Amino acid sequence: MSAPEAGSRPGIAGKRIVLGVCGGIAAYKAASLTSALVQAGAIVDVMLTDGARHFVQPLTFQALTKRPVHASVFEDWSEDFFGHVTLAREADLLVVAPATANTIARLAMGMTDDMLGAVALATVAPIVLAPAMEHHMWHHPATQANLDLLRARGVTVVAPESGRLASGYQGDGRLAGQPALLGAIRTALGRQGELHGRHIVVTAGGTQEPIDPVRFVGNRSTGQMGVALAEAAIDRGARVTLIAGPAVATVPQGPDVVRVGSAVEMQAAVEAAVADADALVMAAAVADFRPRNAAEQKIKKQPGQETLELSLVRNPDIVAGITRPGLIKIGFAAETEELLTNAARKLEGKGLDLIVANDAVATIGSSTSAATLIRPGAPPEALAEMPKERLAARIMTELVCLLPRQGGRNGAR
Ligand code: CTP
Repeated sequence: MSAPEAGSRPGIAGKRIVLGVCGGIAAYKAASLTSALVQAGAIVDVMLTDGARHFVQPLTFQALTKRPVHASVFEDWSEDFFGHVTLAREADLLVVAPATANTIARLAMGMTDDMLGAVALATVAPIVLAPAMEHHMWHHPATQANLDLLRARGVTVVAPESGRLASGYQGDGRLAGQPALLGAIRTALGRQGELHGRHIVVTAGGTQEPIDPVRFVGNRSTGQMGVALAEAAIDRGARVTLIAGPAVATVPQGPDVVRVGSAVEMQAAVEAAVADADALVMAAAVADFRPRNAAEQKIKKQPGQETLELSLVRNPDIVAGITRPGLIKIGFAAETEELLTNAARKLEGKGLDLIVANDAVATIGSSTSAATLIRPGAPPEALAEMPKERLAARIMTELVCLLPRQGGRNGAR
């Protein structure tokens, strides 16, 4: 039997996620995970183990999902709902959060005497397991051996965090935070996407060019577009390296993140990352100039001083300098005048396969963008204003078309 077609749109929206909740104190956190998934557009079916019912009520999850909550293999059967069989067949993903030591052991043994065990065995969808338990239970060789077995079968294990446990002790075993859970869920859902097997390097945010230890020359870019691009690439199954400037406040879970400060640091990180990459998506707002000499100590005002002159030198053009054959390069042009002429010049001058042009003032710091796509030798394509997440997904569709088919030029590397 083959896996059901995952919803055609990459990402969480429209996906059928079966969430198994086990009996640990972290069960209450499953409610906010459920809410986040529903808000992201997923259709969520919740299963509570007997243990979970000691901690949380089915009504909580029913209210959040607007769907029945399942507990037993023998309940809820109808003409078109065959219990665990239907849930398993329709699932795009099974998530177990929190997963207790007991459930982990039972899943490792393939036991099916509750709904969660039965669905886990009957589904061909990917499985994401987020353990949460007491410190010593987590470190016990039995638990770790069971997890090794499950990992070897392709299950994604989202490691718990260290910190204050419900017992009041410090230790390992806290349920991973929601960003980590959502990142693992996106990665698992995208696993078989069109960018599976590809390595995509994305840059995000502005660079900061030091004047002295506390001041810098910079710009207003927050990196929102680059972050959205990294997530969109993850949604299609790519391995992503996200090279992020200092103003990028929250980096998504899923990509390998490299933090950089200045343009020169970004250049070094990009050069290292593209060595085995299929594409470079250069969304960063790189400062064109940097102070010639950054002062080692904080610059002090002198009595009577009314002006300060900074001498700036040109930064390297990062994307233009990357000339590896076979690497697809996508750039951005944020302009305040003559958008198309300037963008077309950058497309050619920097050897890009695609440039995404937009109005600098309207775009920087905004959650939407009205972009124009410009490709070599083709007329520009103006897109309607849309959220940056949607534009990112659209750019990934372009990238899929630009990449040579797997097994061809890049795939043979
Ligand atoms: N870029 C780069 N290295 C630089 C400057 C820009 O790699 N030193 C990249 C950007 O990430 C973007 C594209 O080149 O993908 C265009 O950036 P932009 O700042 O619009 O163009 P510049 O070449 O800097 O030209 P100008 O600032 O003069 O408009």
